[in-house]
Amino acid sequence: MKDTFILAFESSCDETSVSIIRNGCDEIATVVLSQMDIHAEYGGVVPEIASRNHVENITLVIEQCLEKANMTIEEIDAIAITYGPGLIGSLLVGLQAAKTLAYIYNKPLVPVHHIAGHIYANNLVKPMKFPLMALVVSGGHTELVYMKEDYSFKKIGGTLDDAVGEAYDKVARVIKVPYPGGPIIDRLAYEGEDTYNLPIPLNDDSYNFSFSGLKSAVINLHHNEEQRGNEINKANLACSFQNRVSDILVKKTMKAMKEYNVKNLIVAGGVAANKGLRSKLEKECKNNGYELTIPSIKYCTDNAAMIGAAGYYAYKLGRIADLNLNSKANDILK
Ligand code: KG4
Ligand code: ZN
Repeated sequence: MKDTFILAFESSCDETSVSIIRNGCDEIATVVLSQMDIHAEYGGVVPEIASRNHVENITLVIEQCLEKANMTIEEIDAIAITYGPGLIGSLLVGLQAAKTLAYIYNKPLVPVHHIAGHIYANNLVKPMKFPLMALVVSGGHTELVYMKEDYSFKKIGGTLDDAVGEAYDKVARVIKVPYPGGPIIDRLAYEGEDTYNLPIPLNDDSYNFSFSGLKSAVINLHHNEEQRGNEINKANLACSFQNRVSDILVKKTMKAMKEYNVKNLIVAGGVAANKGLRSKLEKECKNNGYELTIPSIKYCTDNAAMIGAAGYYAYKLGRIADLNLNSKANDILK
């Protein structure tokens, strides 16, 4: 069978990334240019600065990726692009670049939902087996998605307020941990003990999540201790917070696996990099005889390789857009 090469773009937040993926599973080359250091100064991503940097970087990143792959655009079968959701200014830069190349080189344009990308990052580890349950945990999403086959996404539950990564980042800001907070809280949690009495978030029978109450509990605790002149033990607080978050994610995921009679679990999104969550899922899946796939750390956070993997299946299913394609700050996964 002839190989299919996808040139993919991802620029939904603060990473400018371009990748070439063969047959939805082999990474030929990926370049990720992160703006993390620039935004760290402000304690979070500043949308205007992000889009301006994407404009400055995108041409260079395309050139570097093609050079690394030792390929030309003529050899590419289709161009995949994150059309949304994300920061609108950032999305538009990637979209414009993808459209321009699609027009000049007469290549099909394949729109990819950012979360479909995170899910298909798992296909870069090993072929995804259906039916499966996807636990999506990122800065903007927390949901359980049942997939019967490729590109069939059935959301069975999701967050009612903050996304899990968002809760990590907000807690990090309160306890004065530098941006990006998630990975640092994760590291601190490993050094600490679960000593703080924090609430279990939305411990009910649904597949929904709610992290704002837990986040507020951490903020209040921090505030009260500060007023009393007591020193907070950051590592212990990080450990207590992380345990409450990961316990509920794991509990509801395991319940969903059982109810939907699914044996394959995949994890998607930036928080899939979380060591606490990874180890608890590994243990539970082993105990229950489930097959667990988690992308390697570099494919957990935003990158174009995952868009190339998802784009391949979208392309095979004929999900092609014309040059009127527009970016969407919000859109449901479908
Ligand atoms: O998927 P992603 O790169 O961007 C979005 O699509 O949102 O996820 C970024 C989120 C941030 O909130 C970041 O703090 C969180 O993922 N994150 C982590 C870890 N690594 C990244 N959260 C907890 N533990 C980690 N190790
Ligand atoms: Zn993401």
